[in-house]
Amino acid sequence: MSDRTTHRLSGTAVLVTGVGGRLGAELVRAFEARGARVTGVGRADFDLGGRELVLEAMERVRPKTIVHAAAWTAVDACEDDPDTAYRINTLGTRNVCEAADAISARVVFVSTDHVFSGERTEPYDEFQEPDPRSVYGRSKLWGERFVQRLGPRHVIVRTSRLFGGAARNYVVSVLERARALAPGEPFVAVSDQLAIPTFVPELASTVAEITEKAGGGIYHLTSSGKPCSWAELARRTIALAGLAVPVREIFSRESPRLAHRPPFGVLMSRVAVLEGIAPLSPWEEALAGYVKTLGAPAPEAKRGRA
Ligand SMILES: NC(=O)c1ccc[n+]([C@@H]2O[C@H](COP(=O)([O-])OP(=O)(O)OC[C@H]3O[C@@H](n4cnc5c(N)ncnc54)[C@H](OP(=O)(O)O)[C@@H]3O)[C@@H](O)[C@H]2O)c1
Repeated sequence: MSDRTTHRLSGTAVLVTGVGGRLGAELVRAFEARGARVTGVGRADFDLGGRELVLEAMERVRPKTIVHAAAWTAVDACEDDPDTAYRINTLGTRNVCEAADAISARVVFVSTDHVFSGERTEPYDEFQEPDPRSVYGRSKLWGERFVQRLGPRHVIVRTSRLFGGAARNYVVSVLERARALAPGEPFVAVSDQLAIPTFVPELASTVAEITEKAGGGIYHLTSSGKPCSWAELARRTIALAGLAVPVREIFSRESPRLAHRPPFGVLMSRVAVLEGIAPLSPWEEALAGYVKTLGAPAPEAKRGRA
């Protein structure tokens, strides 16, 4: 338990958007652990795309810091429906920034490795120029630009491949799908899209630390450890759960998707390190601890276990 008296966020009013998502609930916990008075809001509270709704809600709560984690994260759906993607991810973020400006609040915006094409072979630090190749990536990049133009003392945290926490994520769905396979049937996953998986509770806690201590601007934050593919993440997850399910690796072109994914969406955390923020632990360790917490499968699904 942290000592609230030592935290500059102690007593500060913080509003977190996207509270029903993978990251939002953990952000609430992380800011509360630093003594902040946190209000979490989801789509049921107000639609981010409704400018007046956002302005009114922020005026009512009057937070000192807005941690804006809500987004339309369905990458293929964004490609199929750019209007909705730009309405929520870009104009929604503009609305949040405009509201923040009106009440003199700080904006902490969560963004993504999809702002990069992923066509380099070296990790992307914060000083690389973004070059998104999907509607989702462009909608988030333009969200970042509104934050940079309208949000005083803003923080932008780009991250990748969230797992952990209470909400559904890739690790949970790997286990569900692997347990449902017939004996000997392989789990199929893509081997040519690399990124660093990121453990959500640690990410949330570091976002709170950065908000409290660091200077502002863009931060790349992922777990530490080696870049890995979806297939590698699935293989480790399945092994950690003690399941005897083989993983069949395929190339992205064998399973075409509507939206482009960065083949090398590997983020390098240069700025946080320069500012003395402790790196997150290796994703391999975090995954081992997390899979343990997911517990045993339902009895009828146990036949796939080793
Ligand atoms: N997931 C990843 O691997 C990943 C990787 C890199 C960056 N990110 C970024 O990290 C942030 C958090 O991602 P996440 O995985 O936690 O997202 P998520 O699980 O998809 O949750 C997104 C949240 O946004 C809310 N939302 C969506 N449209 C909204 C609208 N029109 N008005 C108000 N709220 C709306 C959703 O509300 P409902 O629950 O009511 O639908 C949901 O709670 C996002 O900004 C995302 O771009 C995520």
